[in-house]
This record gives sequence, structure tokens and C-alpha cells, in this order.
Amino acid sequence: MSRIAYVNGRYVRHADAGVHIEDRGYQFADGVYEVCGIRGGKLMDEELHLARLQRSLAELRIASPMPLSALRQVLREVVRRNRVENGLVYFQVTRGVAPRDHPFPAGPVKPSLVITAKRLNMARIQQSAEKGVAVVTMPDLRWARRDIKSIALLPNILAKQAAREAGAYEAWLVDAEGYVTEGSSTNAWIVDKFGRLVTRSTGPEILSGITRTVLLETAKREGIEIVERPFTPDEAKSAREAFISASSAVIIPVVRIDDTAIGNGAPGSITLRLREAYAKVGVLS
Ligand code: PDD
Repeated sequence: MSRIAYVNGRYVRHADAGVHIEDRGYQFADGVYEVCGIRGGKLMDEELHLARLQRSLAELRIASPMPLSALRQVLREVVRRNRVENGLVYFQVTRGVAPRDHPFPAGPVKPSLVITAKRLNMARIQQSAEKGVAVVTMPDLRWARRDIKSIALLPNILAKQAAREAGAYEAWLVDAEGYVTEGSSTNAWIVDKFGRLVTRSTGPEILSGITRTVLLETAKREGIEIVERPFTPDEAKSAREAFISASSAVIIPVVRIDDTAIGNGAPGSITLRLREAYAKVGVLS
């Protein structure tokens, strides 16, 4: 079965899919994206992802490519045509195609919409969840509007690559004041010595993760105390537990930060409890 992508109104073979060379996404990374998990063929927390997409578009003054009701249908169709049971749907909107020039195009330009879906190896994710992963800390070199889910990800991919070359799964990015902002493609969490869940509060410094939002609700239901505040790499290294969150794998325990083992070097109990409880709170549609 060949993969199918949606590109500007057409369903095309993934291998043949393409956009114009003067698409502003290609030229300037002038666009935004979303990644939504799929479980049992259904979209996870779809409405929260759509709301964040609308917000990112509004912040950059990019028009909506289609009404939300139509977008919901196309997302489902891409998932269906690719027969994805467990995986991800990726959707990206750019300002559209125009002769390369820095200011926004003068005339009306139709935003470009690309949607793809792929399967995830759930067994491998489960393995990481059971074993835990290592993270390394490095300076956060990104721009000052990390709340916008922009497709401009150069500092993120450089950090991720550096992490992988260091034998780690993720990079935890550290701001100029010495506090962890988030991972290169995940939000960062610790459990402090009092058993409280600690994660940075939202603002321009981090992406407000959908998994983060749902996890906070999950923790509340589970009666786990939550503190939204920044933490340093040193505090994280002496924390009881640590983990990362994102739509792809939901929660992955962190068992090592730089050269320091976290807790007893195995996934923490609150982390695993949250991972289990998440499934009951996340909305499938
Ligand atoms: N990454 N922080 C950053 C910088 C991210 O790129 C992501 C998501 C998150 C977690 O957000 P959410 O829970 O909404 O997935 C936090 C996606 C998965 C990606 O770029 O592939």
C-alpha cells in the first residue's frame, strides 16, 4: 500500500507529493504545524491541536487554509487512506507561494496546506517507556516566541542531533538564566523530593504542549500536587523522577541527565502512573 499525502486540495502519492519552490515555507520557514497522535485510528486531543493551530496562525497573520470543519474531515481522510491505527498525523500551513521577498506578499495569497500521516512503532515506544531514556543539557539557542509552533526548527534539530551524537534521546534546553525551558521536541518535567510535579509555566519561552495540558489535568485527577515553575539542570539531577512529554510518545521517563542517574536509575513510579492514567483523560475523536 502506498502512502498518501494531502497537498493543497489533492490527495497524492506520498512519493510524488511536492510544493512550489517559492512556497514561503520552503524559502523562509514562514509557516506553522501541528502533530496529533492517532490511537486506534482516532485523533488524540484533536480540538486542542486545532485551537493551537489557529492561535499560531493568528500570531503570524497567516489565514486559515480552510474552515475547521473541513480540516477535521481532511485529517480523518488522510488517516483513513493511510490506514494508520497508531501513529501521527502531521499538518503544516505556510503563508503560501509568492516571489521571494521578505515582507508578506502584497496581494492575497492562498496559504499552503500539507497533511501526512504515519504509523509509529508502538513496541519501540513501549520499550523506551519501560527502560527510560537519557537527556543532555545544552544552551537554548531559539528565538523569543517559542509559544508559536513554527516550522522554523533549526536550533531544535541541531540540539536533537547533538543529543543523539552524545548517545542521548533528547536535549534539554537551558536559558540564559540557567533554567531548563523544555526539550528540543518535548516538554520537560521533574518530580521533586516532596513528590510534587514540576514543569515550567507557559509563556513565550516554551511551546504550550497539548500533552502537557492534558497531563496537568491527569495529575490533578490523580491527586498529585503540581507546581508550574522553572527548574535548573542541577535541581533536575537531584530530582526523584524526570520525564518528557509530547504527542508522539506521550510520556517517556528520563533516567539520566548528562552524567547523572535520576532516582535509582529506573523510571519513576509517579511517571509510570501518569503514563497509565493519561489514556483515560486524553480525548479521542
Ligand atoms: N513536538 N516542545 C516542543 C519544542 C515541541 O516541538 C513539542 C512537540 C512539544 C510537545 O508538544 P505536544 O505535547 O503538543 O506534542 C514541546 C512535536 C511532536 C514535533 O515537533 O514533532
